[in-house]
Amino acid sequence: EKSIIKDKLNRPLRDLRISVIDRCNFRCQYCMPADKFGPDFVFLPKSALLTYEELERIAKIFVGLGVEKIRLTGGEPLLRKDLPILVKKLSQIEGLKDIGLTTNGVLLPKFAEQLKAAGLIRVNVSLDSLNDKLFGEINGRNVGTQPVLDGIAAARKAGLGVKVNMVVKKGLNDQEILPMAEYCKENGLQLRYIEYMDVGSTNGWKMDDVVTKKQIYEVLKGKFELEALEPAYFGEVAKLYRYKGTDSDVGFITSVSESFCSSCTRSRLSANGQIFTCLFNGNGHDIRNFLRNGATDEELAERITSIWQGRGDRYSDERTEETAATRKKIEMSYIGG
Ligand code: GTP
Ligand code: 5AD
Ligand code: SF4
Ligand code: SF4
Repeated sequence: EKSIIKDKLNRPLRDLRISVIDRCNFRCQYCMPADKFGPDFVFLPKSALLTYEELERIAKIFVGLGVEKIRLTGGEPLLRKDLPILVKKLSQIEGLKDIGLTTNGVLLPKFAEQLKAAGLIRVNVSLDSLNDKLFGEINGRNVGTQPVLDGIAAARKAGLGVKVNMVVKKGLNDQEILPMAEYCKENGLQLRYIEYMDVGSTNGWKMDDVVTKKQIYEVLKGKFELEALEPAYFGEVAKLYRYKGTDSDVGFITSVSESFCSSCTRSRLSANGQIFTCLFNGNGHDIRNFLRNGATDEELAERITSIWQGRGDRYSDERTEETAATRKKIEMSYIGG
């Protein structure tokens, strides 16, 4: 028997996003800019990361409290050693309906088969441009598009669901809006345009850098006929549209121009073992040390319940240039989006 716990704004706990590592093999400008995450940057030591046994235990407790969907993130989650072992543990949790992974795709040729065999259902792969030179500049590591496209192909071949995430930043990759739509439509991939957000405090976000859903939609409308789809479930992050007369969809993640906090059912576990109640609320709640100091499952469940019941976050409803610059936030690499 599952209990349903609700936060202060009456939102149920349904999803858990777990960041398994704070490292990444990319240095995307909008996420881990190379000048801020340079060779001397100190990443978390292994002892700070929750072990797979600890993660399994915490995840089970979350599922007992209503979580149906788990997403693994990073940094780049495939840099965590033996990730399929974790996937296997999680996929055996009774009551869990969905397990996904958000990745830059480069390591998928190596891991896709193992991940599928371990019970992973789907991957969301980030790709911000089809132009090698531009993509290399955006990812800060001069990696071309082919390794990512190979990753996507490997995931599909393994039988994983695949969606493509494209963060759109004004003056950087807005000219890639149409080419990406055409490519993904032709290849049967769902593309989701993501409005550039003020995650963390290192990316120098300005409202002016955002390309809104409305602006992207206008570009698409010049070329395609689109029909809005109803949300598939309460709290779906992307707003989806169908290319008329096809079975392909395209989506928008509109955190800036049309916030979706009122249906936000997501809890986040950071790489260093803290629970966050919002992507933009920098006050984490320790769970790692509590667990390592001998907390029982009941005590862990009580703590998670009280954290969720105390939650009143709705940052994207309130966002301004001012909050973007002054709020204490956690970096994307610890919390995985
Ligand atoms: P599915 O819908 O399950 O496929 O995954 P998702 O879109 O929730 O996860 P993904 O990791 O692919 O994230 C896509 C984008 O949505 C990223 O930029 C995330 O930071 C953003 N995102 C996901 N959840 C939230 C949220 O609760 N608030 C905000 N503001 N952005 C979110
Ligand atoms: N704004 C919007 N999306 C972002 N992502 C990373 N940083 C940002 C940002 N500042 C995206 C990544 C990935 C997902 C986890 O979050 O591109 O697809
Ligand atoms: Fe790495 Fe993803 Fe951040 Fe890019 S967006 S630096 S691939 S974690
Ligand atoms: Fe949820 Fe915070 Fe995102 Fe709003 S801004 S949807 S409360 S994570």
